[in-house]
Amino acid sequence: MASENKLMAVANWKMYLSRTASLQVANSLAKILTKQAEKVDIVLCPSYPLISEVGAIFSGTKISVGAQDIFHEENGPFTGEVSMSEIQGLVKYTIVGHSERRKIHGDLDETVAVKAKLALKGGIHPIICVGETFQERKKGGTIEVLKRQVSKIMENLTYLDFPRVVFCYEPVWAIAPDLEEVGPQPEPQEVAEMAGLIRRIAHENGKYAEKIRVLYGGSVTSKTAAAFVSEPGVDGVLVGGASTKPSEFSSIIRELEKCR
Ligand code: PGA
Repeated sequence: MASENKLMAVANWKMYLSRTASLQVANSLAKILTKQAEKVDIVLCPSYPLISEVGAIFSGTKISVGAQDIFHEENGPFTGEVSMSEIQGLVKYTIVGHSERRKIHGDLDETVAVKAKLALKGGIHPIICVGETFQERKKGGTIEVLKRQVSKIMENLTYLDFPRVVFCYEPVWAIAPDLEEVGPQPEPQEVAEMAGLIRRIAHENGKYAEKIRVLYGGSVTSKTAAAFVSEPGVDGVLVGGASTKPSEFSSIIRELEKCR
């Protein structure tokens, strides 16, 4: 399914950068990125304590700030967690369902679905990560996993939510284990098939589902980004390690710009 959606590049800084380094990267990006934000929606996701400071650097620009997660309860005795209402007004987007949260913090399909709904309730656009592990892929379970993960999200959404929803196909085995390493990647055609599958699960006849943006994530660099985004229905990339290097992240965006 082709898509007319505006392209998107999401930087997931994870916990890679100190406060000083985060602000350095943000300041460098501010110098090089502002023009690029015309053609590509750019979202930077620092750690929670840095959201305000990074947001201030980009205030008045088209570059958005996002969170890396929100908690699945609205408030209460949840030490160390961050609720939707605590970041409301500070971010336009939040990632939910990242495989590192699923693995380390035990996030379930049900909790990810609640997070996505909560984000929408607060006017925050969810970037919902889905994707299979290496074990699941080896057993031929990729499609089953995506069906399970996406269907759970859809129980909570209607087609009216679709323009504000972003999915990201992130096969867990393709995510680079550390900053310097580039992991294996699926073939771009396979990513396009998975983007189509996500939209079909979202809406059987696909009538409204083309409004959902579907990104690819997993070891994306400036050398690989264009091949994914040139595929029909792939609307951009979610970038981890490479997004912490300003010149590399801006090269990725330049590659995206050439695709549409
Ligand atoms: P990576 O991370 O680009 O470093 O593989 C992507 C992600 O986990 O979001």
